[in-house]
Amino acid sequence: MERFVTLVVGLCFLLVGNGFDVAVSSPTEQQPYRTAYHFQPPKNWMNGPMYYKGIYHLFYQANPHGAVWGNISWGHSISYDLVNWVHLDYAIYPSEPYDINGCWSGSVTILSGGNPAILYTGINFENNQVQNLAVPRNLSDPFLKEWVKSPYNPLMTPLGGIDPKQYRDPTTAWLGPDKVWRAIIGSQINGHGTALLYHSKTFFNWTRGENPLHFSNKTGMWECPDFYPVSISVKNGLDTSVQGRDIKHVLKASFSDHDYYVIGKYDVQTDKYIVDFDFMDSGEQFRYDYGIFYASKTFYDSAKKRRILWGWVTEADSQSDDINKGWAGLQSFPRSILLDKSGRQLVQWPVEEVEKLRTKQVNLHNKELKGGSVHEISGVTASQADVEISFELSNLKEAEFIHANLVDPQVLCSQRKASTKGTIGPFGLLVLASKDLTEQTAISFQIFKGLKKYNVLMCSDQSRSSLREGVDKTTFGAFVDVDPSREKISLRSLIDHSIVESFGGEGRTCMTARVYPKLAIDKEAHLYAFNNGSQSVTITSLTAWSMKKAQIAPL
Ligand SMILES: *[C@@H]1O[C@H](CO)[C@@H](O)[C@H](O)[C@H]1NC(C)=O
Ligand SMILES: *[C@@H]1O[C@H](CO)[C@@H](O)[C@H](O)[C@H]1NC(C)=O
Ligand SMILES: *[C@@H]1O[C@H](CO)[C@@H](O)[C@H](O)[C@H]1NC(C)=O
Ligand SMILES: *[C@@H]1O[C@H](CO)[C@@H](O)[C@H](O)[C@H]1NC(C)=O
Ligand SMILES: *[C@@H]1O[C@H](CO)[C@@H](O)[C@H](O)[C@H]1NC(C)=O
Repeated sequence: MERFVTLVVGLCFLLVGNGFDVAVSSPTEQQPYRTAYHFQPPKNWMNGPMYYKGIYHLFYQANPHGAVWGNISWGHSISYDLVNWVHLDYAIYPSEPYDINGCWSGSVTILSGGNPAILYTGINFENNQVQNLAVPRNLSDPFLKEWVKSPYNPLMTPLGGIDPKQYRDPTTAWLGPDKVWRAIIGSQINGHGTALLYHSKTFFNWTRGENPLHFSNKTGMWECPDFYPVSISVKNGLDTSVQGRDIKHVLKASFSDHDYYVIGKYDVQTDKYIVDFDFMDSGEQFRYDYGIFYASKTFYDSAKKRRILWGWVTEADSQSDDINKGWAGLQSFPRSILLDKSGRQLVQWPVEEVEKLRTKQVNLHNKELKGGSVHEISGVTASQADVEISFELSNLKEAEFIHANLVDPQVLCSQRKASTKGTIGPFGLLVLASKDLTEQTAISFQIFKGLKKYNVLMCSDQSRSSLREGVDKTTFGAFVDVDPSREKISLRSLIDHSIVESFGGEGRTCMTARVYPKLAIDKEAHLYAFNNGSQSVTITSLTAWSMKKAQIAPL
């Protein structure tokens, strides 16, 4: 197996590899952290996913020529089911003056005639960032293996005071009733995050609007922006160009290591976007994921009428560990994304196709967990599992008081780790745990009484996840918008050797962790439910499944 080196530069992707060799899995004795059903190209990070004539396409960044950073190109993999993947040859690579120093991130748009088109950032001969177009060479090729660059490239250049080094990641374009396409580009003005808005009738000739679609002077540079409609009334995803009354628009921007989003009303006539709560404006700060998750992108799946989110999940071990492993980074499991019924936030859930991988199942119902107890869930492969659990609480009035507006939930989680006894909670799952619990990753909830309502804190505690040194064991935390006096507290976790993706409150709060146990590997991994509060809690239902390995390999 050949090695590749990963260099994460402070941009929204930039990992490098040297071909597909590393995608071939090696024995788990040597590769205890390699995942079985999460997409791992040799190289990672997202460009633009799309669905076209029965096939899902995933594009990602790679260096075809070497183990160092350079020649950044678009890797290309395809799937019929979002679970099993085939790696194809590179779709786009540096070849022209306008992209000779790299083909960076971008997005796919399905044009009016149904044909796909890629807008991507090229790093030109002057090391400036410009936007380019590529289209499939042969639309009869079902895999769309070859892409050709437009003779009109570059289509957009950093004119009029735009910083040529901070001008990248064009979004999927949307079409107005005026038959004009719109797309946004991540940038900064006076150091502040900005989504520059462009218009085009032809898709070749783009002009920048007088005003950006949105900006925030409370953030820095925006990378990998995403802009799409969500429905207030139906539980479907919407195609990117859909406008209408029962629709709100989500703007996502990647900055400060996280993917933040705002929700607002977009008027396609005026191109004005009015947000409900702005980035960094109040206590209402929403992230797609409160763990490791960046540079994500959504696409519309017209076959199943859903919008699907992919995020890039980096490693939490050291770069020398990555060189030894021969790989670094992976994709979150694709998630369908909808507006919550509250209208205030989004909800995410692993796409249903993940259920194809479920095999052996165990169930548990109405099991009381007394304060301080641990209950093993045996009978599933705990290193490769899908777990759904829900809890019912009594004695809520005993909950401790907090001023939720005055605390940072992540800080609260690191002060109140799973190893600290509470009143109502911490309770939840111990995943990738060794038999003796020396190693364990706790995904847990604690209930606090606030001024007006109960506050449900969700934590992912990595502090005891590995006996290994030199691994980032930061604790993650966020509140979940559920009312424990009316609703059960639910948790779903996708466990896959070195990644734990958790969905609290039916997907209202998501947290992805990377963990590298030394003991709790493969068959030595165990799964437990636990309660470390003084009050007992009841597991109303638990279902856990062993998961099969997905087929992810070169053609
Ligand atoms: C980029 O590709 C060219 C060949 O096209 C190769 O000569 C060069 O070494 C590559 N650079 C890097 C940094 O991989
Ligand atoms: C286009 O793709 C189809 C299907 O793979 C193939 O039969 C045809 O020969 C291709 N055309 C060209 C010009 O490559
Ligand atoms: C490009 O679009 C602008 C604005 O619509 C128009 O003024 C200009 O003539 C167009 N250029 C070309 C080459 O079509
Ligand atoms: C942010 O920008 C707005 C509009 O330009 C301006 O009114 C406001 O003073 C700025 N705030 C800060 C904190 O810079
Ligand atoms: C529960 O709390 C005790 C006391 O802090 C601690 O020793 C124990 O490890 C905790 N249990 C779990 C499962 O974390």
